[in-house]
Amino acid sequence: MKRIAIFASGTGTNAANIIRYFDDNHDISVKAVLSNNPTAGVLNVAKEAGVDSLVFTREEFYETDKVIRYLLDNQIDLVVLAGFLWLVPELFIQSFPKKIINIHPALLPAFGGKGMYGARVHQAVKAANKQETGITIHYVNPHYDEGDIIFQTSCSLSDDDTPDTIAAKVHKLEYEFYPKVIGQLLN
Ligand code: GRF
Repeated sequence: MKRIAIFASGTGTNAANIIRYFDDNHDISVKAVLSNNPTAGVLNVAKEAGVDSLVFTREEFYETDKVIRYLLDNQIDLVVLAGFLWLVPELFIQSFPKKIINIHPALLPAFGGKGMYGARVHQAVKAANKQETGITIHYVNPHYDEGDIIFQTSCSLSDDDTPDTIAAKVHKLEYEFYPKVIGQLLN
C-alpha cells in the first residue's frame, strides 16, 4: 500500500477530490491531512472522510522535526501540497527527495513566485490579457514554484472570462489531472 499525505492551508476542495479519487483504490490511500491553519476547511474534509489530521505551528514546522517524524512514522510515500501556503524548509525537502509535489494554478514559470496564489494568480492572468492558462504540477524545492515540472495542461480563455471564471476553469483541470498524476507517480 502506498500512502499519501496532503498538506493544505484552506478550503481543501482538491484534497477532497484526491481523497475521493483514491477511496476505493487498494494500492494507494490518503493516510493523513496536515495543515498550518487550525480553522482550515480541509480539516473538516479529513474528518468527514475519516482521514487522520495534524495541525502544526510555524515553530514546529520550521524549528523542529515534528512534521517530518509524523510523516516517517506513518510511512508516507508521497507528500502532496494542495493549497499549502508556507515555503517548505530545506531539511524537510532533503528528508523526502522527489517525494513532495505541488500544484500551481497557472502555467509556470509564468504567474508564479511569492505572493502568487489563489485569486491573485487569476487576476494577474486576466490583467495580462492571456488567451490561455492552465495548471502546473511540479516537485517542490526550497523556492516558491521553482521545482522541476512534472505535468502541465492548459485551457483557452476568451475576453469574456473574469478572474472567477478563470479560477473555475483551472479548478476543473486540477480535479481531473492532479489525482491522475499522483497515481502515476506512485505506480
Ligand atoms: C488550488 O487552486 C491550487 O492550485 C493552489 O491552491 C488552490 C487550492 O484550492 N495551489 P482548494 O483549497 O483545493 O480549493
